[in-house]
Amino acid sequence: MAAVSSLQGIEVKIISTKPIDGQKTGTSGLRKKTNIFMGEHYLANWVQSLFDSLGNEVKGKALGLGGDGRYFNKEAVQTILKLAAGAGVKKVYVGMNAIMATPAMSALIRGRKLYGGLIMSASHNPGGPKEDWGIKFNYSSGEPAPERITDAIYGYTTKISELKMADIPETDLSKIGTHSYGDFEVEVIDPVEDYLALLEEVFDFGMLRKFITRPDFSLTFDALHAVTGAYAGPILVDKLGASASAVRNGVPLEDFGGGHPDPNLTYAHELVELQWSDKATDFGAASDGDGDRNMILGNAFFITPSDSVAIIAANAQEAIPYFKTGLKGVARSMPTSEALDRVAEKEGLKCFEVPTGWKFFGNLMDAGLCSVCGEESFGTGADHVREKDGLWAVLAWLSILAYRNKDIAVGEKKVTVEDIAMEHWAKYGRNFFSRFDYEGVESDAANSMVEHLRAVQADSKPGTKFGDYELKTADEFSYTDPVDGSVASKQGLRFIFTDGSRIIFRLSGTGSSGATVRLYIEQYSADSSKHSQDAQAALAEIIKIALDISQLAKFTGREKPTVIT
Ligand code: G6P
Ligand code: ZN
Repeated sequence: MAAVSSLQGIEVKIISTKPIDGQKTGTSGLRKKTNIFMGEHYLANWVQSLFDSLGNEVKGKALGLGGDGRYFNKEAVQTILKLAAGAGVKKVYVGMNAIMATPAMSALIRGRKLYGGLIMSASHNPGGPKEDWGIKFNYSSGEPAPERITDAIYGYTTKISELKMADIPETDLSKIGTHSYGDFEVEVIDPVEDYLALLEEVFDFGMLRKFITRPDFSLTFDALHAVTGAYAGPILVDKLGASASAVRNGVPLEDFGGGHPDPNLTYAHELVELQWSDKATDFGAASDGDGDRNMILGNAFFITPSDSVAIIAANAQEAIPYFKTGLKGVARSMPTSEALDRVAEKEGLKCFEVPTGWKFFGNLMDAGLCSVCGEESFGTGADHVREKDGLWAVLAWLSILAYRNKDIAVGEKKVTVEDIAMEHWAKYGRNFFSRFDYEGVESDAANSMVEHLRAVQADSKPGTKFGDYELKTADEFSYTDPVDGSVASKQGLRFIFTDGSRIIFRLSGTGSSGATVRLYIEQYSADSSKHSQDAQAALAEIIKIALDISQLAKFTGREKPTVIT
């Protein structure tokens, strides 16, 4: 069957289809094994459902489209373009070679006032024919689609009966240029340009370049063969003068070179090994599949994401022009350490504690309440976009280093990443922090443990002693959004002690099989003679208490976590 599009000069084929189970969409979109997405109509059904849920609103509008470079992205673009034209979208801006980092998409939507954008990514999950694929939709402020849209998409996937596919030829994604198909337009754009222009407004590129090209400074950025490979060359090397060898694994590959593109101590092991060797550089950083996460290292020194956001917040006004009039406020996810709260308290800033999930920061930012925010899960960002931003975090750290070293002559002792952390702790105290992940736990076992913890929490009155720790309060975290009043409940069980230490349990919301139990442990110390202690050593006693309270080994059968951060 054929029909005429609401756009002139385009014929639309109506293809019949049937609902496919399991297309439940979260705020990070839909993630499945690649071969599932490659199955007949699987991708098309979801994309058609997205357009159906946007309805007339999307007609005549412009969208962005791109992804993290993984396998199947280029084919997927062609399907999405046909469906977009079929839905009456007027124009789609596609990143060259289907590339667009998540924060870059957020910048593109905001900068060009697009209606929204589609990002083809399964974030930090491995890619390739046997690995994962994913797709998500970002809305008009550049933020992940709100629940009312993701719920509507899911609703449509359960009753879809036809696909509206415009009869247009394949678009050449390898060259920048504009293609018109009747009234429908596809513009293949440089995926770096808009994002770089925004970063140049945020940071002092002159100061950064001067610092990065110092003969006594060296840096390594590991793109893990993921999307930031496409950005690191133009930004760090061409613009800021880093040597080409400073960028490692800088070519985006469809399978990320067989790796797991997640910037943490486990998966970014090549960078970790380098930074703990005699070839270590002064600064090391990595980003994930779609460029929103980051890890920051010094020479043999790890900055926890919780400390990273606190240190950036404490130095932002001096070192980053975008913040020169001060921060509007700061925010962190609940399990993220209270290091940020210490900064907020001393500097007279409002500090918000939100549930895990970047979407919760967006409302605060739109309402002008938050400038800088972060999560313990290697996410750091600011209100220049509505996503966490890996390269932004890298440039924020480089700006702090550049600013702190601007009056130190070449050859003299520089201020290092470690010095910045030590000075920060001396001023604000140190929140020792660690996260234990127990991956692939049987769901029933994990749920029983949570039930048990709820019972313990209900029984635990303030003043109860756990070893040397005295309970201040125990609760299950619930959040009322100060902007729209919406409530998110059951966001993690917390045991908070009178000395500021915290034990938190949550089940991950992003796992793909079974349950992942996350245990977050935190302990505060104002005593600077203890600040260089190893976090695991400092936390040993409270970790024991956490395992004891939860009876984690009994419930899950696990003696040891799968990942320790
Ligand atoms: C994604 C989200 C983050 C979240 C992280 C961990 O990266 O964008 O906001 O912190 O997943 O979530 P989880 O539920 O697995 O702890
Ligand atoms: Zn990501």
